Amino acid sequence: MTIHRKKKIEVRNLVKIFGKNPQKAISLVEQGVSKQEIFERTKQTVGLYNVSFDVYEGETFVLMGLSGSGKSTLLRCLNRLIEPSDGHILIDGDDIATMDDKELRETRRKKLSMVFQGFALLPHRTVIDNVAFGLEIQGVSKEERYPKAEDAVAKVGLKGYESSKTSQLSGGMQQRVGLARALATDPDVLLMDEAFSALDPLIRSEMQDELLALQDKMKKTIVFVSHDLDEALKLGDRIAIMKDGVIAQIGTAEEILTEPADDYVSEFVAGVDRTKILTAENVMKRPEPVVSINAGLKVALQLMKKHGISSIFVVDPEKVIKGILFIDDAVAAVKDKKTLQDVLVTDILSVKPDVPIKEIIPVMSDSSSPLAVINENNKLIGVIVRGSILGALAITEGDQNGLT
Ligand SMILES: Nc1ncnc2c1ncn2[C@@H]1O[C@H](COP(=O)(O)OP(=O)(O)O)[C@@H](O)[C@H]1O
Ligand SMILES: [Mg+2]
Repeated sequence: MTIHRKKKIEVRNLVKIFGKNPQKAISLVEQGVSKQEIFERTKQTVGLYNVSFDVYEGETFVLMGLSGSGKSTLLRCLNRLIEPSDGHILIDGDDIATMDDKELRETRRKKLSMVFQGFALLPHRTVIDNVAFGLEIQGVSKEERYPKAEDAVAKVGLKGYESSKTSQLSGGMQQRVGLARALATDPDVLLMDEAFSALDPLIRSEMQDELLALQDKMKKTIVFVSHDLDEALKLGDRIAIMKDGVIAQIGTAEEILTEPADDYVSEFVAGVDRTKILTAENVMKRPEPVVSINAGLKVALQLMKKHGISSIFVVDPEKVIKGILFIDDAVAAVKDKKTLQDVLVTDILSVKPDVPIKEIIPVMSDSSSPLAVINENNKLIGVIVRGSILGALAITEGDQNGLT
């Protein structure tokens, strides 16, 4: 299936060298000299080198990597808080890197908003003033900015706290204020730099859930920086893993876990519990064969025998699941002159495609029937048998240990 999605951000061959002699550093990178050695020889720091990727509209794209790998530099190049040394950054097709000041200001105002590491709030101002502040620096009038700020405050669950001083709020609430300030300007793109890293684990997890819930409704394009793999896997539709200013791999959580591009990525993902990341969709098989609710028992029996299976899912012409038929019941029913409907088991086990394997394993181990994977319209889109889960986990375990 090809999905044509709009590219919101296109980054092409982006380079950032910190120092006065970027050219010298660039020619050394091109010769394959390491970032460390380039610094020792030239005192130039390779912030980013030859970074290219796309971010699609409505996507949450996570930049992930160890401290110093270039995540913040990359994020800040996207709105030119940091001037790139070379390369292109297209937002809706327009190159940020070559815009004059006026165009840049316009683009930032209309399309980009940043949530900073450690909130960057005004401690003595109230929640509502802090949220309105983002609009104020954009020159939005008072009459316009307060209703918008109130909206944003409500969105992040801070209704009732409008007139509290931000310095009196907990870390989690302060982060909500920071998020509300970014949302108040209704940007197309949210740039978030380690936005949740300062929070303690429980609050942090809560904020991640909150962002996912908000994003479900808002469908903004989000570029989220994190050094935390769990956070990256949880939030990211796709993840770019950075190392020494270059991208080591870009992919979905599944791709990065199951096909790490190199040893660096493998090491990164080694400790991850795959049953939390892989979902029903990753391990299901095509639902074949199935039998139509309008077909007879004999057809169903033939299909089961031909495929050597002891049960078969029954669907209507729209592929909506109607139940499961077991071979023993079908054989008995033929003898007793009953119909398929008479012996159809309608109380079936089913899951949605995005359910993690961790939640599926207990369901499967209590039952010998296959598990139906159904979409929101109850259409049968896949089947999971016990072996498919073990198979998927075994393969990735093997990869991890270098056995395959
Ligand atoms: N203003 C700067 N001047 C010189 N070097 C910098 C500057 N900002 C970042 N760097 C260097 O660029 C590299 C990437 O830094 P950064 O993007 O902050 O990493 P991350 O956000 O992944 O921790 C690091 O080696 C850092 O020391
Ligand atoms: Mg950083």
